[in-house]
Amino acid sequence: MALEGNAAAAAANGHDGSRRRHVLVFPLAYQGHINPMFRLAGILHARGFAITVFHTHFNAPDPARHPEYRFVPVPDGVSGPAPVAMEDVVSHIFALNAACEAPFRDRLAAVLEEYSRDAVACLIADGHLLSMVQVATRLAVPTLILRTGSAACFSCFLAYPLLINEGYLPVQESELETEVSELPPYRVRDLMRVGNHDLTRELLERAVAAVDTSAGLILNTFDALERRELEKLRQDLTLPVFDIGPLHMLSPAVESSLLRQDRSCLEWLDARPPASVLYVSFGSLACMSPRDLVETAWGIAGSNVPFLWVVRPGLVAAAGEENEVTVTRLPDGFEAATRGRGTVVAWAPQEEVLRHPAVAGFWTHCGWNSTTESVCEGVPMLCRPHFGDQMGNARYVEHVWRVGFEVGGELERGAVEAAIRRLVTGKDGAEMQARAGELKKAAKECTGVAGSSHLAINKLVDHMLSL
Ligand code: UDX
Repeated sequence: MALEGNAAAAAANGHDGSRRRHVLVFPLAYQGHINPMFRLAGILHARGFAITVFHTHFNAPDPARHPEYRFVPVPDGVSGPAPVAMEDVVSHIFALNAACEAPFRDRLAAVLEEYSRDAVACLIADGHLLSMVQVATRLAVPTLILRTGSAACFSCFLAYPLLINEGYLPVQESELETEVSELPPYRVRDLMRVGNHDLTRELLERAVAAVDTSAGLILNTFDALERRELEKLRQDLTLPVFDIGPLHMLSPAVESSLLRQDRSCLEWLDARPPASVLYVSFGSLACMSPRDLVETAWGIAGSNVPFLWVVRPGLVAAAGEENEVTVTRLPDGFEAATRGRGTVVAWAPQEEVLRHPAVAGFWTHCGWNSTTESVCEGVPMLCRPHFGDQMGNARYVEHVWRVGFEVGGELERGAVEAAIRRLVTGKDGAEMQARAGELKKAAKECTGVAGSSHLAINKLVDHMLSL
């Protein structure tokens, strides 16, 4: 990548004698967090920084895919199968923080000695790794935080204590539709939730503390998508905020998938007419009940719309096997009923799928990566949020950007059929697609050479070298 005369980038390269050229990164070991961190690393590497990746044994990256980076494993002492239930994922994040703290301190100290402290620009840590941020701070290494969700989502984190005081939280079933006037356009049902109230509060408190301890907040979002939300964040925070997304459009392609992507679905898409296929995927963590799987399958079958469906291992946690990752079986008769019209894979090359001209719509859980990847390709969405920030993301998709709508309530095959037809062949689906096309154009402008995200990356690099 060209350095565009940016003095800071040249400094990172060591052209002016500066030696602050190492960036240390520590992603949270979940797919939705690993992808943006590796994208960011790719951008910084292209600007001349050497990259050192600290990582847990759990969901460890494959160093062979990134021969230009150095990898430092940090023992996480956490054994057993990957957590499935959301509350277990949050407890797992706390456990990883606790277990990695001491080994990270030793490894970071060794790296500092080897590179020399002056050669290290900073540590960029995931926002859920407070313990690592504290370790780095004690060793006088400046830190920046990468938050993998939206700007609106982090405002919700900041507002959480206020929302508890105001009585919105803990969430009461009877108040789900109440508008949160302090945080428009959220309703109570859209607020961040991961399992029980206390767990959510602790997770968010720790994420806010990580940002407060840091020298800056990096967000995988862009000005045209969240201008008002970014302005609000900048008012509420005293540290710099860098909106440098969508990272997947700015970074060289990197392979950071934990599951093998089945590329055969791209050939299948090649044989379909333009704007005809519904892509269905619920990300790396969201789980469905066996009943919802059956209603989803027969709704897809009944819609008569061609489809590409990602049914990953563990999508349905079988009864009594909540901690087992199992192969998900589709209902008997589904394959025969949809033969020639659809294809099912365990994991897809999602960005390429969304970019494919045959794709007309995306039925998604509204993880932030999936949402931005869809927006950037102008693909309208059916939203079925499960937990965490996904409800808030779905609210923005439907209510703010108006590029999709939610399939809410109990899943019923008839309603699923109707929603799919509305999105892919309906008049308002076409309007949503047109608005998504506008966002795609805006994303392209933000990531162009004079675009807001590009300029924010320049500022980020300058900031890193000034720390
Ligand atoms: C989670 C949360 O849901 C999300 O909101 C948060 O911001 C990050 O952590 P996840 O549930 O995995 O992430 O969803 P998402 O954010 O959409 O990330 C999934 C990633 O996996 C995307 O980058 C997507 O391109 C990729 N993916 C998904 C594939 O490569 N293949 C697939 O078949 C499905």
